[in-house]
Amino acid sequence: MTRQLLLAAARSSAARRAVLAAPMGRAVVRRFIAGETREDAVRAVDQLIVRGLHVTVDHLGEDTTDPARADAVRDEYTALLARLGTAGIGGRAEVSVKLSALGSALRPDGHRRALERARAVCAAAEAAGTTVTLDMEDHTATDDTLAAAAELRADFPRVGVVLQSCLRRTEADCRELVHTGSRVRLVKGAYAEPSWAAFRSRGEVDRSYVRCLRLLMEGNGYPMVATHDPRLIEIAGTLAVRAGRPQDSYEFQMLYGIREDEQRRLAAAGETVRVYVPYGGDWYGYFMRRLAERPANLGFFLRALGHG
Ligand code: FDA
Repeated sequence: MTRQLLLAAARSSAARRAVLAAPMGRAVVRRFIAGETREDAVRAVDQLIVRGLHVTVDHLGEDTTDPARADAVRDEYTALLARLGTAGIGGRAEVSVKLSALGSALRPDGHRRALERARAVCAAAEAAGTTVTLDMEDHTATDDTLAAAAELRADFPRVGVVLQSCLRRTEADCRELVHTGSRVRLVKGAYAEPSWAAFRSRGEVDRSYVRCLRLLMEGNGYPMVATHDPRLIEIAGTLAVRAGRPQDSYEFQMLYGIREDEQRRLAAAGETVRVYVPYGGDWYGYFMRRLAERPANLGFFLRALGHG
């Protein structure tokens, strides 16, 4: 119930205004977000790389409402990638992009224009020696995002895409994406979805995650196991061994500020661990989805609100 309310609030402009006006203190948000500027992000990336971790950087923003804003998002990503390339860390740092931030929902030709902008981001990534993963938004965006990923891969074969185990369709999508060169980030899914499209219970979502993970590990692509769930992390390790995969043929991914001890433990055990580093001023939707995931995060937030 709390989760549904928080996910609804993540989409509500009234709730957004209330949260932005709250005297919450930067520290609360900074636990999950690297900062508001590109330099904040680069600083966080440097710190993670020094600790032996890999990163994927997300410039926060979604549901862009005008073309100029979508162009600005593209330009921010290309500037960020140039910065990462100059710093010589393209080998360890990639970027994550939401098509809605690039204007996919704009009328009349948002999908086509967002794809053009994504192409510019992919070209900048290639020049910096790295690549792009397309984030996945709610179920209404799945087909378009998978189609965009396929189109981009024709020119930029390392482009990755996210699949969400909460969706009933995802096992079938995994089967389509087990080919050589494919890069799939498997997550549980962070959006409120209707029951015809998504599993409702945690158990069903977790079982779907394991089925999808098995397909990806037994396939020929590069699975990116994005979860903080200790049970699923253990199962991923077992499935990788069973599939005869060397440690460099898959990776674990976690969000910035979450289970940092586990990130370090896995890296020390020789696993590739990539941390998802969000930055930017438009942190509201991302932050609310993190609160929805974990009551402990909500308590932390409410306590900080109380303390001003
Ligand atoms: P879940 O939230 O069910 O937690 C399972 C267990 O993990 C908990 O019981 C606890 O043991 C442990 N745990 C979780 N959080 C913890 C914490 N803060 N401290 C300690 N233990 C904790 N979603 C999406 O829809 N589209 C996308 O593109 C992405 N992209 C993405 C990238 C990356 C790198 C990650 C890690 C996640 C995403 N997500 C996402 C978010 C994803 O869908 C999901 O909402 C979150 O990862 C939370 O789900 P978990 O798998 O971590 O399990």
